Amino acid sequence: MKIVLIGIGIVAAAFVCTVVGCKMFAGRSTEAKISLTVKPQGKIAIVYYSQSQVQNTALVAKWIQKQVGGDLIPLELVKPYPEPYGETLKAANAERTAKTHPQLKPIPSLDGYDIVFVGAPIWYGTYAAPLMTFFDSNKLAGKTVAPFCTHGGGGAGKFFADVAKACPSAKMLDGLTIRGSNQVERRLGTGVTSHHTEDDVVKWLNAIFKDGAK
Ligand SMILES: Cc1cc2nc3c(=O)[nH]c(=O)nc-3n(C[C@H](O)[C@H](O)[C@H](O)COP(=O)(O)O)c2cc1C
Repeated sequence: MKIVLIGIGIVAAAFVCTVVGCKMFAGRSTEAKISLTVKPQGKIAIVYYSQSQVQNTALVAKWIQKQVGGDLIPLELVKPYPEPYGETLKAANAERTAKTHPQLKPIPSLDGYDIVFVGAPIWYGTYAAPLMTFFDSNKLAGKTVAPFCTHGGGGAGKFFADVAKACPSAKMLDGLTIRGSNQVERRLGTGVTSHHTEDDVVKWLNAIFKDGAK
């Protein structure tokens, strides 16, 4: 009897893991079904900030790199935001009120790069504060800039307009907006699901580079 119960337990656990696991990774497949039609020419950097535990923006950055190559340049904070989410919100909101930006760890020079992808989560309707710090010392003049963002349901807001303002002398390409997950979904255990896949990245790349690379 005991052995039968243990057996049932193992089968049930395997079932739950499979279902939950599939759900968690739905939409996060790393395999694109469509192909890149134009490979952008020039040296590529993919600069991004990603804060949440599910790392939505980091995932999109990695999808981009998988397609076009280039160097991933994650922006990291000297003093990371506190967890959990409620604490992050409090800290980010305090910065917003005080109009301050967090200090970043040094990143490599972008001088030799031709195309710079720049990505961040949407915070309060625009790019997350660490990107503000990045733009303070990186105006990306003369470079081709491809912006991308992830959000929790509110859309891209002023992200693209604000990136364009921050880099007035760059050649700005159309941006990519990816819906990540929000807190409610995370609490329900579906927080890493997104309707978006790597194909959305490929479609975007094909559109922005359709007339050639730079
Ligand atoms: C401080 C803060 C502010 C946010 N503000 C917004 C917002 O205005 N609109 C929105 O849709 N999502 C907002 N979000 C949700 C994030 O944009 C979303 O979860 C994003 O995909 C997280 O990306 P990451 O995993 O790369 O950090 C906010 C999240 C945080 C932590």
